[in-house]
Amino acid sequence: MIDQYSFAKRRNRFIDQLAGNAAIIPAAPMVTHHADCEYPFRQNSDFWYLTGFDEPDAVALFLPHRPIGEQYVLFVLPKDPALEAWIGSREGTDGVVKDFGVDIAHPLDELPKRLGDYLQGAQGIAFRIGKHPKIEQIVLTVLSEQLDTVQRSGSLPLSLVAPCPLLHNLRLYKEPLEIERMRVAARISAKAHELAREVVHPGMNERQLQGVIEEYFLAQGARGPAYGSIVAGGDNACILHYTSNNSILKDGDLVLIDAGCSLSDYYNGDITRTFPVNGCFTGEQRALYEVVLAAQKAALQSVLPGQNAEGVHAIALRTLVEGLVDLGLLYGNVDSLIEQNAYRHLYMHRTGHWLGLDVHDVGAYRLGEYPVKLEPGMILTVEPGLYISDRFAVPDGQPSIQDRWKGIGIRIEDDVLVGLNGPEVMSSDAQKSISEMES
Ligand code: GLY
Ligand code: MN
Ligand code: MN
Repeated sequence: MIDQYSFAKRRNRFIDQLAGNAAIIPAAPMVTHHADCEYPFRQNSDFWYLTGFDEPDAVALFLPHRPIGEQYVLFVLPKDPALEAWIGSREGTDGVVKDFGVDIAHPLDELPKRLGDYLQGAQGIAFRIGKHPKIEQIVLTVLSEQLDTVQRSGSLPLSLVAPCPLLHNLRLYKEPLEIERMRVAARISAKAHELAREVVHPGMNERQLQGVIEEYFLAQGARGPAYGSIVAGGDNACILHYTSNNSILKDGDLVLIDAGCSLSDYYNGDITRTFPVNGCFTGEQRALYEVVLAAQKAALQSVLPGQNAEGVHAIALRTLVEGLVDLGLLYGNVDSLIEQNAYRHLYMHRTGHWLGLDVHDVGAYRLGEYPVKLEPGMILTVEPGLYISDRFAVPDGQPSIQDRWKGIGIRIEDDVLVGLNGPEVMSSDAQKSISEMES
């Protein structure tokens, strides 16, 4: 687990970089499904990153303009023994000061009356508008009151800035302890994929495999799946966000599993493996699997400092297109096919994304016209695939798809740390060679 010392260090780094702006970072609310039944709570990752506090509805203030010892203020839901008998215990104001490194704590309902005072002396407010409607109302009221009085108070009007570029840039570079947690998430996720391959057989329902995977996540102490697990037999694998997982796995089909766990401190795995349900590839399945595997390996090797996510995508894409031309699924010159997007009916997504506290993690991919360069400590997925179906029109000049290829969807996805000494494939415990997929 990330310790309180690490959270404190992050807060100090954030406060140092706020340049005199006071940041207001809200926790996630509980979300009601119906009546008094709520969805499982999921903390806002920005709030978690800075606080390590896992209760809903709190609001954190980071106040660089205040003296040391008054810079981290937390508004929390107060202790309420009768309510806690129903929903579980709360830390309350005393608990967060004692155990979470908070300088000053108040009950949440005091936020409207106290916020204005805390903002006095700040240069601006760092708050993400458009995401937290209840808190936004309070922030805008305080800002508006301040604007009403600047004429006589002599203070400058507060500006309103977004905290995201600063905070998300911090989150993009993983600390050593975060990297350790990401390794654990990847290891548990990888082992679950191995278990799924051990038990799969024709006639099983997709959701039985989902159960095997998610049971392992829970047994290892994870919160559960990091996102809706995808267990897709045959043609279902050509539906990129297939999560209904309720079909029978057929003899002769492949099954694509895209699943990863989320740890108790929200670090996530995101792994995809594809293998034959009966343990033996058909000729077409094997030929396409070899192309995707070659593309994934080439892309993985390119995850080096100085490269960028677009470059990794370009390398995977070129290998995929070359393979599709060799197999007769595309006609023409590889450069022109890429230039004209003539492969998009067979490969329609990017090759990866940042990975961390969110599965599609924060952090810029581009700054202006420049792609963000990979640096040690960044973590990304590498996940090329091929999806052969007739859902998309075949572009003019390209061959129509013979039936023998249809219903084959393949993706191979690993979680990769950009390291000083080359890429570290954190999910490498999940096998992917042809021989292992057939064992
Ligand atoms: N599981 C979501 C993704 O692979 O991006
Ligand atoms: Mn995935
Ligand atoms: Mn992914």
